[in-house]
Amino acid sequence: MQFYSRVVENDVKALLSDLVEVLPRFAGTTVLVTGAGGFLMSYIVETLLAWNETGSGDACRVIALDNFKTGVPERLAHLEALPNFRLVRHDISDPLDLDEPVDWIVHGASIASPTVYRQYPLETISANVDGTRHLLELARRSLTRGMIVMSTSEIYGDPHPDFIPTPEDYRGYVSCTGPRACYDESKRMAETLAVTHHRLFGTPIKLVRPFNVYGPGLRLDDRRVLPDFMTCVLEDRPIELLSDGAPTRSFCYVSDAIALMMRTLASDFAGDAINTGNDEVEISMRDLAEAVSRTGASVLGRAPIAVRYQASEDSDYLVDNPQRRCPDLSRARHLFPDWSPKVGLEDGLSRLIQHLVEKNGIRIPVSAEV
Ligand SMILES: NC(=O)c1ccc[n+]([C@@H]2O[C@H](COP(=O)([O-])OP(=O)(O)OC[C@H]3O[C@@H](n4cnc5c(N)ncnc54)[C@H](O)[C@@H]3O)[C@@H](O)[C@H]2O)c1
Repeated sequence: MQFYSRVVENDVKALLSDLVEVLPRFAGTTVLVTGAGGFLMSYIVETLLAWNETGSGDACRVIALDNFKTGVPERLAHLEALPNFRLVRHDISDPLDLDEPVDWIVHGASIASPTVYRQYPLETISANVDGTRHLLELARRSLTRGMIVMSTSEIYGDPHPDFIPTPEDYRGYVSCTGPRACYDESKRMAETLAVTHHRLFGTPIKLVRPFNVYGPGLRLDDRRVLPDFMTCVLEDRPIELLSDGAPTRSFCYVSDAIALMMRTLASDFAGDAINTGNDEVEISMRDLAEAVSRTGASVLGRAPIAVRYQASEDSDYLVDNPQRRCPDLSRARHLFPDWSPKVGLEDGLSRLIQHLVEKNGIRIPVSAEV
């Protein structure tokens, strides 16, 4: 089987061995993944299809749905010839009438970048509210065994300092009218719809709340912080921080998040939320910029790029932007004692840069290859 890149191949192979007890649950079943052309969901698609190749059980059929609003068809192109792969181009804001049964659903379709969701607020609300409702109806009709609704750490808003690290039962400090509300509030409504279906119909929904997941497949132009920093590294120009660099985030490498999400999907856990992230690497934007500069220099064999500070021209850029974000992962660790984040920040950044080097055809000096 072909993989999207060498780094993705290594990540997926590591996931296959980490999930050796989990993936057989999907044998002989059909998994619908929405937002499959995007960063996170494409990793799930690729992992399930790679498991089929191991011959460890009856094949899992994967239906990959996307309208390619922000995802790209090229992310899935190398999988299209595989026998258990089906691509459905569809806007999940519209009702979905699939002509085959579905056993599992992972609903990841949404605009996820703050800059892009502020450009398309109604589409963002619709994917999260109407899209979730359509998929919950499908889950109910098809007696789905498990359904992940991709929520977000943004539903906590800008948490009170006493609630950082933030546990799942923190109720949030969120603006319902600010520039980010189209995303934060529609994710909150998606959660409400899902738990309502769980209460009324017993639908086994699982609310996954990721905290800043990064890795190969993030679009460089989607204006999230790491893609912006990575673009500077690739173009060998200074990183310009659009704040004083003090806000913190906890970055989780994609394979650690997928390892937890697949365990969550396959488990009996239902009707509640689970934080998904890395609680060991809360870092300020200033230190992140320095780490990216250092790692870029080491992978590319160049001098580290400079880090500068300047104000954003976009007056809404930092409105309602949380100052600190770090997950409390007690629930994840309690439910899945065999899971913990494995990939440290510099390792993850190095993998991401190596992936970008491969995809962008950048030549690096032999002495710098890692
Ligand atoms: N990456 C993170 O750190 C993070 C953090 C919090 C939440 N999430 C959530 O996880 C999910 C995946 O995020 P991602 O980072 O992979 O984003 P992404 O932008 O890479 O992927 C989202 C995908 O959804 C598709 N999509 C958007 N609207 C759609 C619609 N109406 N119908 C069908 N497809 C549609 C896009 O084309 C894209 O392929 C999203 O729901 C996002 O809100 C991600």
